[in-house]
Amino acid sequence: MKVLVVGNGGREHALAWTLLQSPNIKQVVCTPGNGGTATMKNCQNLPLAVDDFAGIANAVTDQGISLVVVGPEVPLALGIVDYLRQRNLAVFGPTQAGAQIESSKSWAKEIMTQANVPTAKSQTFTAAAAKDYIQAEGAPIVIKADGLAAGKGVIVANTVDEAIAAVEELSGNNSSKLVIEEFLRGSEVSVLAVTDGKTIRPLIPAQDHKRIGEGDTGKNTGGMGAYAPVPLVTEELMARIEQEILQPTLKALNQHNIDYRGVLYAGLMITPAGDPKVIEFNCRFGDPETQVVLPLLDTPLDEILLACVEQRLEQLPPFRWKAGSAVCVVAASGGYPDAYEKGKAIRGIAEATQKGAIVFQAGTKLQQPEQQIVTDGGRVLGVTAVADNFERAIASAYDAVRSIQFEGMYYRRDIGHKYRTQK
Ligand code: AMP
Ligand code: GLY
Repeated sequence: MKVLVVGNGGREHALAWTLLQSPNIKQVVCTPGNGGTATMKNCQNLPLAVDDFAGIANAVTDQGISLVVVGPEVPLALGIVDYLRQRNLAVFGPTQAGAQIESSKSWAKEIMTQANVPTAKSQTFTAAAAKDYIQAEGAPIVIKADGLAAGKGVIVANTVDEAIAAVEELSGNNSSKLVIEEFLRGSEVSVLAVTDGKTIRPLIPAQDHKRIGEGDTGKNTGGMGAYAPVPLVTEELMARIEQEILQPTLKALNQHNIDYRGVLYAGLMITPAGDPKVIEFNCRFGDPETQVVLPLLDTPLDEILLACVEQRLEQLPPFRWKAGSAVCVVAASGGYPDAYEKGKAIRGIAEATQKGAIVFQAGTKLQQPEQQIVTDGGRVLGVTAVADNFERAIASAYDAVRSIQFEGMYYRRDIGHKYRTQK
């Protein structure tokens, strides 16, 4: 079977890599892919933009591709799934209507209210009205742009002045609507669940590290590292997450006649009292969570994705997982998440791989004719290690990162620090 993966990040490299571990998959095509998918065995890039739906549909037909997996939120929000399904092509991902769970924070809040899902108290405003509300509520408070903002649409304000400045900053950003939200305390975890629209099943929990700086300081990023599983999420807590969050949300989506066959990603705050509350939903696999969840999956990924597309997830036996832990350390371009330079030669990927790490590439490309991998984005590599316990996985991920160099390379030295405080 041949699969097409849409996207060019670390998540898509991890999806392609995991699919190629399956005995059922002989080839993966990535549109447009990156340096990692360009150089992986049995994988090939096609230079089509993620919103070139016609080009992607033609490639699927011409190349005899059996399944399309959509990585990023942007093509999902633009309706790639609707487009491909209308042409009878098998595609894993929610429709445009379903993708609103991520593309409109105010709509997601309506769904949560309807489903009675625990989440931060919030209200939706225009910029002017938001300021009055902030004055009345006080700080800390959280300001969110309504639409997609590539991880840059949320500001956690510690003072009223910061909150007012955040309103100014975000009201120009993609949407005039703002969601103002109660600040939640606790530990964040990501639970990625797969659904065929009728049944929903969680994958193992992961923890991201969203801030650029060590000790969780500085600006928000797309994610600087992750680990899985997360000991804080016990079996008992996962059962509550399923009952109180995942199942009611799916039911509410059904009530809106939304046929959701893809990933429902719940970004959760586990409060100091131990209760799970939703911070946000995403309509896709997380990045870098995918880079730690999928390497631990023992069930062939294509079997799960196809069961979702064909609406027979209920019949699938429980997913099998490898024992142990996975850790991913992201190496970023100097300056990220602000301006950074591109085109820096990356050295040491082979050495890191020889040490047993999986180097998932994100913002990279293969420069011709030298066949040199160079930087091409903010988050450049996700260096992942799997081991029989967390401490070994972390040591081996960092050992591998130290083999890699490129000009301006930055990585956090404290990925996984929250694991230790949970233990
Ligand atoms: P989001 O894009 O909604 O995930 O927000 C980005 C980050 O902002 C989250 O991962 C949290 O760290 C933080 N955040 C968002 N909403 C809240 C909230 N209500 N309380 C505390 N932190 C939040
Ligand atoms: N790691 C955060 C996200 O994928 O949105």
